[in-house]
Amino acid sequence: MPPQKRATLLIKNIGQLVTLAGPAPRLGAQMKQLEIIKNGGIAAAADEIIAVGKSVEIERQTEIAESCMVIDAKEAVVTPGLIDPHTHPVFSMTREEEFEMRTLGKTYEEIAQAGGGIRASVRDLRTAPRELILKQTKARLDRLLAHGITTAEAKSGYGLSTDSEIMQLEIIKKLDETHAIELVPTFLGAHEIPDEFQNKRSEYIRLLIEEMLPVVAFRQLAEFCDVFCEEHVYTIDESRKIQEAAKKLGLGLKFHADELKSTGGAKLAASLGAVSADHLVYISDSGIKALAASRTVATLLPGTSFSLRSKQYAPARKLIEAGAIVALATDCNPGSSYTESLPFITTLASLQMRLTAAEALSAITVNAACAIGRQNKLGRLEPGMQADLVIWNMQDYREMPYHYAVNLVNQVIKKGKQVLVN
Ligand code: NIG
Ligand code: FE
Repeated sequence: MPPQKRATLLIKNIGQLVTLAGPAPRLGAQMKQLEIIKNGGIAAAADEIIAVGKSVEIERQTEIAESCMVIDAKEAVVTPGLIDPHTHPVFSMTREEEFEMRTLGKTYEEIAQAGGGIRASVRDLRTAPRELILKQTKARLDRLLAHGITTAEAKSGYGLSTDSEIMQLEIIKKLDETHAIELVPTFLGAHEIPDEFQNKRSEYIRLLIEEMLPVVAFRQLAEFCDVFCEEHVYTIDESRKIQEAAKKLGLGLKFHADELKSTGGAKLAASLGAVSADHLVYISDSGIKALAASRTVATLLPGTSFSLRSKQYAPARKLIEAGAIVALATDCNPGSSYTESLPFITTLASLQMRLTAAEALSAITVNAACAIGRQNKLGRLEPGMQADLVIWNMQDYREMPYHYAVNLVNQVIKKGKQVLVN
């Protein structure tokens, strides 16, 4: 038997240790089973969890390294580090005037067609100094971490030229190396058609396929390729063409699908074996069936419906009951959902999509890990998994959706190290 690893981190006296041990993904009724250990304890050696159980047993049985950090959780809740599987954090200018225009009655599409929206962010980012964008993006990651997020998917998509898309992916790479948050990079050159290609969209699509994607893949700047498949943006045929090219280059696939209208994006995502199809507010019944029959994760972003003042939320209950893999994300971006708080997203999921606290927690841990292809390492507290966890100022995990718009994070541990204490 190999010698037991010595603990470098031990957390004791955990009131509710929410492990989510077991299957990844969690489907249907499994989303309600969090595998909570009362009076729990957990030990890690370097970045890996080595023991999970009752506090007294962990304290008695674990061999401790001299330098071991011991934390008394004082009966609080501990969960896996939260995973945000859909963010657009690399932008410069914010768009509060658009938020106000919506307050006064304009719609997101009207604002975009009048020259605002994504293309306004693109015009700005192309001329913003790189150091400024880096600093602004870092501040957003700080806020994500402060809300208990230890891993986030991060998209490009506000450059829409080869150089500026690469620049955004380089910023993501640099921050992944230097920030406590782990980032999973996604290339979103197909976020919009930039101004200079408005009347020659096929030329932009050619540039995406023949120039941008090959460079991104060759330089390993992204794990995934995403497309905004939507009316007025990329059609189903254009999206298929772009994603088939990305797949050939070895990239995994993600989709912005059925967000504003039902266009069949979810079905296309499932048929191409995408890792996730995101938004899905207007997914059809056949789209739900297609996702349920696939391994493509349905990543729902209720912050977007909320911030767009829409009454329409993705049919989460139907998706869960059909057997689709359901995850939740912030969609953190300057236009349709400017928030770094996944806990607040669980409030929206509970009140607007009828997810229980347990289902919502499964959706931002184990199932979110599946949405970024990290389910073997992240999203559950079990021996062998990465030691990413959050100690909360809560006695009961159901406080997460219930006690909204305040930050209840007490401490964040990433790769076995304490990275934040509130
Ligand atoms: O996920 N849908 C496309 N992209 C973002 C919006 C980006 C923006 O408005 O800047 C979204 O909603
Ligand atoms: Fe998005």
